Amino acid sequence: MGKEPFYITTPIYYVNDVPHIGHAYTTIAADVSARYHRMLGQPVIFCTGTDEHGQKIQQAAEKKGLTAQQLADQTVENFRSLWKALDISNDDFIRTTEPRHEKVVRAIFEKLIAQGDVYKGTYEGWYCVPCETYVPEAQMGEGKTCPDCRRPLEKMTEESFFFRMSNYAEPLLRFYEDNPDAILPRTRYNEIVSFIRGGLKDQSISRTTLTWGIPVPGDDRHVFYVWFDALINYLTVCGYPDDEPKWRKFWPVVRHFVGKDIIRFHCIVWPAMLLALGLNPPRQVFSHGWWTVDGEKMSKSKGNVVDPFEMVDLYGQDAFRYFLLREVPFGLDGDFSEN
Ligand code: ME8
Ligand code: MG
Repeated sequence: MGKEPFYITTPIYYVNDVPHIGHAYTTIAADVSARYHRMLGQPVIFCTGTDEHGQKIQQAAEKKGLTAQQLADQTVENFRSLWKALDISNDDFIRTTEPRHEKVVRAIFEKLIAQGDVYKGTYEGWYCVPCETYVPEAQMGEGKTCPDCRRPLEKMTEESFFFRMSNYAEPLLRFYEDNPDAILPRTRYNEIVSFIRGGLKDQSISRTTLTWGIPVPGDDRHVFYVWFDALINYLTVCGYPDDEPKWRKFWPVVRHFVGKDIIRFHCIVWPAMLLALGLNPPRQVFSHGWWTVDGEKMSKSKGNVVDPFEMVDLYGQDAFRYFLLREVPFGLDGDFSEN
């Protein structure tokens, strides 16, 4: 015993902006876990990386007078050097603009369309650009704003490819009934299960309204929706589908560390995609706590974003790592303050 392969991940972070302590927190937590399992003698894959496609990146690049690729190439260096500064022991670093990844996304799409799990339809809805997500009417804030970030939504109508997620509500519910630890903490588990019980809609997986994405094979007017592309990174790193010995050894992921902002993607869309592919869902998605700063939400406009490089310079790598993990019981929200 003790030798089971251990595959652990962080989210892949958007490159529209530089890393802050929230990103550092998730990555340090995953690093500690990866080091522990290596100590136990388990073969480990610990991966992090960057999510480089989508409207948010394209718009951020335009504002800076750069191409999206140029912005990605710049920002990825901030992440790489932060992980160095924090002594992160990741075994791989994935960028979604790498050919190894684009190939896997296309292969998965082709498999899903061939088996009837993907079809072409029309999408109409209210879209939040910063969050890269459509917001259902029932959840819209006052004056058609995003319930999460409170910014105005944009009306969009487009032809889109859809993943038949509605077919996977029942299998997902059965999976979560059999695996009560597949989502932690428990409050998040309950939230996800009751959301699925409300029924699932098919998931739009392509866009015609932007160009900064992986082109859909056979239909160049479409690029893949950034979340379809992004979630697949976990399979790319594992060598799916070409490196069969590797992915058979390491699949499924044992633990995805994520923030509560992205659990629906990780606990619904992603396992549904995996079930459709005939692969096991992740053993566990752990939604760790959320950091505020001096009691407030971190935001650029408030100017209270904590720069992890600055913290390492001031207090040192180990002190900063220790502080983040020791200050708050893991799983609970925390407040950051230097006083
Ligand atoms: O969502 N406290 O990327 P992202 C704790 N690209 N953790 C925080 C935090 C905070 N205040 N703010 C951010 C994306 N995080 C997608 C992910 S995965 C296939 C695609 C951490 O750059 C937390 O882990 O917005 C959160 O889930 C993640 O950063 C979001 O990073
Ligand atoms: Mg975010």
